[in-house]
Amino acid sequence: MKTITFYILILILFIFTSCRRVMPIDKVIDGSLAFSVKQYNLMTAVMKDKPGQLPRTIDADGKLKTENSRWWTSGFYPGCLWYLYEYSKDQKIKDDAMMITARVEQEKYTTNNHDVGFMLYCSFGNGLRLTNEESYNEVLLTGAKSLSTRFRPKNGCIQSWGSTKKWQCPVIIDNMMNLELLMWAFKKSGDSSFYKIAVSHADTTMKYHFRRDYSTFHVVSYDTITGKVEVRQTSQGFSDESAWSRGQSWGLYGYTMMYRETKLDRYLKQAQNIADFLINNPNLPDDKIPYWDYNAPGIPDATRDASAGAIMASALIELSGYVNAETKEKYLKVAETQLRSLASPAYMAKLGENGNFILMHNAGSVPANSEVDVPLTYADYYFIEALLRYRKLLSK
Ligand code: GLY
Repeated sequence: MKTITFYILILILFIFTSCRRVMPIDKVIDGSLAFSVKQYNLMTAVMKDKPGQLPRTIDADGKLKTENSRWWTSGFYPGCLWYLYEYSKDQKIKDDAMMITARVEQEKYTTNNHDVGFMLYCSFGNGLRLTNEESYNEVLLTGAKSLSTRFRPKNGCIQSWGSTKKWQCPVIIDNMMNLELLMWAFKKSGDSSFYKIAVSHADTTMKYHFRRDYSTFHVVSYDTITGKVEVRQTSQGFSDESAWSRGQSWGLYGYTMMYRETKLDRYLKQAQNIADFLINNPNLPDDKIPYWDYNAPGIPDATRDASAGAIMASALIELSGYVNAETKEKYLKVAETQLRSLASPAYMAKLGENGNFILMHNAGSVPANSEVDVPLTYADYYFIEALLRYRKLLSK
């Protein structure tokens, strides 16, 4: 009898410990991607009956909020569909992606802000990569030319937003992301002006946007006559001197991408220095999903920004491919924690909830009290991208 009790106890212990065993990361990734396909199929079922509209977030009642293609995030939803097609190879998702991508085409003429890179490269850029659809080349090239019109030789940067009394020529760190479109246009057309603009912007930003600790200001405005720095401030961060989390992630991603595209060592060094600032930051929580600002008041109760975590994870996974084995392990450890956190019920929505977006707990602009603790398309986009990047890395 004693022996039977003993074996029952062992069995209970075994069941208990197996339940607590950490799920292998490849299972986490596949589960998250399979869920994302289902969730975005629900999203598309709603969006197909809203011509010209793209999902943005949800309102206070949990109702889906949409925008036309003018809003800076218009490229992310079609981009998510392209990534999910890449994962699933499902013809229906491909058809959906083509239908939704077409809604963004008119942004190829956008010259009044810098977001054309986000809008077109995430949508048409991914579409071209996956289908070789010839007509997408023209859209991307026209968009790159539109973006180039915002280059200001006086200061060597692409102007982000319009001039105001406050800022003569504002350039925000986010703008690094738009350079990928220019690098594509250079490779496609052979026109070196695209390359020169992208490198000039990246170099000038490296010089004037970063502090000694490799944190970045959000906005640097340049004097339009002298080309010198007019002022360094914030728009979406806690203060002018603080480290707004998504901005730090844009910088990390931007310099990693620019290293990939140019193989210039200085961009690799910059990306690694930014990574060190973030990874070693005492205000990066254990689950590695940043608060909305690394200097936010009220930490540890400050609101999180899952989008900053998703962008950072995707960037770290790419950056891990350009460094030595020890550094690679360091980056992937953080990125894996971020993916596990985002894939957990703490951040990942349930099927059919959260306006059919994937991730919860993002922060658009806390100072403006706009889009705080809500779903946002760019969080979903970079999360799916990070999942696919890590999946590819694991399969090597
Ligand atoms: N580019 C705008 C943002 O990151 O909120």
